[in-house]
This record gives sequence, C-alpha cells and structure tokens, in this order.
Amino acid sequence: MRIDILTLFPNMFKGVFEESIIKRAIDLNKVEINLINFREFTKDAHNKVDDTPYGGGAGMVLMPQPIFDCVKSLRNDSSKVILLTPDGGLFNQEKAYSLAKEKHLILICGHYEGFDERIRSICDMEISIGDYVLTGGEIPAMAIADSVVRLLPGVINEDSSNNDSFNHNLLDYPTYTKPRVYEGMEVPEVLLSGDHKKIAEYRKNESIKRTKKRRPDLLKK
Ligand SMILES: C[S@@+](CC[C@H](N)C(=O)[O-])C[C@H]1O[C@@H](n2cnc3c(N)ncnc32)[C@H](O)[C@@H]1O
Repeated sequence: MRIDILTLFPNMFKGVFEESIIKRAIDLNKVEINLINFREFTKDAHNKVDDTPYGGGAGMVLMPQPIFDCVKSLRNDSSKVILLTPDGGLFNQEKAYSLAKEKHLILICGHYEGFDERIRSICDMEISIGDYVLTGGEIPAMAIADSVVRLLPGVINEDSSNNDSFNHNLLDYPTYTKPRVYEGMEVPEVLLSGDHKKIAEYRKNESIKRTKKRRPDLLKK
C-alpha cells in the first residue's frame, strides 16, 4: 500500500511513523508513506496557499489550486482521495478494514478555517475522526494511517487484530499478565486453568458483558 499525505506541516509527522509497528511496516515494505507539502504546488507569486473567505468572516481558507494540482500529480486509477474534515463520515474500525484493502490512499489535511468548498469535488471520500474540531487534518491523518497500516497482512499477528475491540461488534475481553496477585487483586482463576475451551468461553462472556455495559450501541448492530 502507498499512503500520500498532503499537508502544510510535514514536520508534525516526525516521530509518529518512525517508531514501533508503523516503522516496522515501512521497513518491511508493507507500506510506503509520503509526506507532501502542497505549498510546493502553488502558482501564487508569494507562495500563498490560503486567502480570506468570500463574503467575509474569520480565518483563512485553503485555496483550491495547490491541492487540485498536487492531487492531479499523484492520482492514478487505484487511488482513493480522502478529505479530512469534521463534517465527514465518522471513522471507525469497519472503515479502517475497508481502507486496508486499497492500494493507494491520498489523505488531504485541511488547516486554518478550512478549505475552499470546491476541493470536495476531487475527493472520493470525506472522513471525520470524531465530533470535535482540531487545528488541522494532521492528527486525523496519523490516526487513520496508523489504524489502517496495522491491519495490512503481515504487519501484526492476525489473531491479535481479530480479537480487537469493535471486531464482531464487541469490545475486547480483559487481559492480565504477571504477577498473579498485585496489590491484593487476583488474576481470574480460569485463566490459570490451562483449559482452553473454558478460557475461550470466559473471554467471550466477558467481552459481551463489557460491551453491554460500556457500548450497548454496538450490540444493536
Ligand atoms: C480548524 S479545522 C476547520 C473546522 C471548520 N471550520 C469546521 O467547523 O468544520 C481545520 C482542519 O482540520 C481538520 N480537522 C479538524 N477536526 C477534524 C476532525 N474531527 N476530523 C477530521 N479532520 C478534522 C480538517 O482538515 C479541517 O479543515
């Protein structure tokens, strides 16, 4: 998979893709991640990429030309162009799985007051990562890239992602490690029994119990 991230602030990504599982996925050539500063595509004499909104109002708005030209230079038949915007469809694990099947993602990070409405016309999809407003699309791009890359074949153990929260509309079951007793709190006996059938039953029940209590909306699905 290739992920191209269009941003005015590529330095914000420093570190994020240079550690842990995402770094390993890059090193193993499971994914190529490119940070592209769309300011390099502006035709404005003063290198501008934004301007004041028509009709007045606060803030600066990203102009269409640099983003149109940048996307044009990257797009191919298998590209999925995604605009990051608070009014987009809410991102979730199902969308992460679906994006993990794509060959090429182009993520457009807005900034300032937002972007010229005409930029939507070149996008295949619009995504929000939650009902709150961030200063830019960079953190949403990091969240989406991270959640998608870990689902690519060979990046993490498939058993591990299969049991993750939101798969089968359930939250994950509780997990424990050593020591057996910590500050008076004991590991449930069944996990020490060595009986794999019983352990699987216990985990399934705990998963359902936890989902009922914390996210009953998932069970309705
Ligand atoms: C300050 S926000 C603009 C908010 C815009 N005025 C609005 O109310 O919808 C600047 C940029 O950050 C990104 N952004 C902010 N919150 C986001 C969210 N929850 N999900 C995805 N992108 C977001 C978008 O790219 C947006 O254009």
